[in-house]
Amino acid sequence: MSKKLEVLPDQGALIARALELILSNIETAIQERGQFTIALSGGSTPKPLYEAISTQKLPWDKIHVFWGDERYVPPDHPDSNELMARRAWLDRVDIPTGNIHAIPTNETDPAAAAVQYERHLQEFFHSSPDELPSLDVILLGMGDDAHTASLFPHTEALKVTDKLITVGNKDGNPRITFTYPFINSARCVIFIVAGANKRPALAQIFAPVADEFTYPSRLIQPQGELWWLLDAAAGSDLK
Ligand code: 6PG
Repeated sequence: MSKKLEVLPDQGALIARALELILSNIETAIQERGQFTIALSGGSTPKPLYEAISTQKLPWDKIHVFWGDERYVPPDHPDSNELMARRAWLDRVDIPTGNIHAIPTNETDPAAAAVQYERHLQEFFHSSPDELPSLDVILLGMGDDAHTASLFPHTEALKVTDKLITVGNKDGNPRITFTYPFINSARCVIFIVAGANKRPALAQIFAPVADEFTYPSRLIQPQGELWWLLDAAAGSDLK
């Protein structure tokens, strides 16, 4: 794993740097494998990044979009990560419908939705049940409690290591989430973290030792590249 930390002056510079990294990965992936696969994060930080990506002239037919986690709500619900990404990006570009791989949230049982999405990923990547397919890029945010995706502190989802997808839990509300071993199988993981409220959690993430179940973002140690892109408000004392 190669771990890189960059602290950018402000959120605008953070978004510009993340865009630059993603465009570079798109070019490499399409050159090497004929397609590019990315898993998106939700929350507020990535919205301007998705808007910036939507302005780029890209081979959309070769780009496949997944989600690293999803709130268990309909796709037209204001909390939906899918809705946010569609409005900020996907509805604005000529990407084939079949290249948008949304997490199903219409099953009564979230566990059934997790199984359905896992099977979809395995079919897409032609991977067997005991394989961990590698996405080109997994984009992650981090909460001020050091969660990432929907891997929240001291939840059962953190213990799932034999699946790609599991059910997360935020304050009793189900989420569908990549497991940390699946995240770690990515070629490149990019965290984008902004705001002074993230400083205490970041101090624990970058501490030599801290409990991974209390600070789940510490579990993200991909075999490929790991980028932490922070704005100065979040990471100025981590330089
Ligand atoms: C979600 C996200 C979540 C998010 C963090 C940071 O579904 O909410 O996937 O993991 O990335 O909570 O959110 P902000 O970017 O809004 O701080």
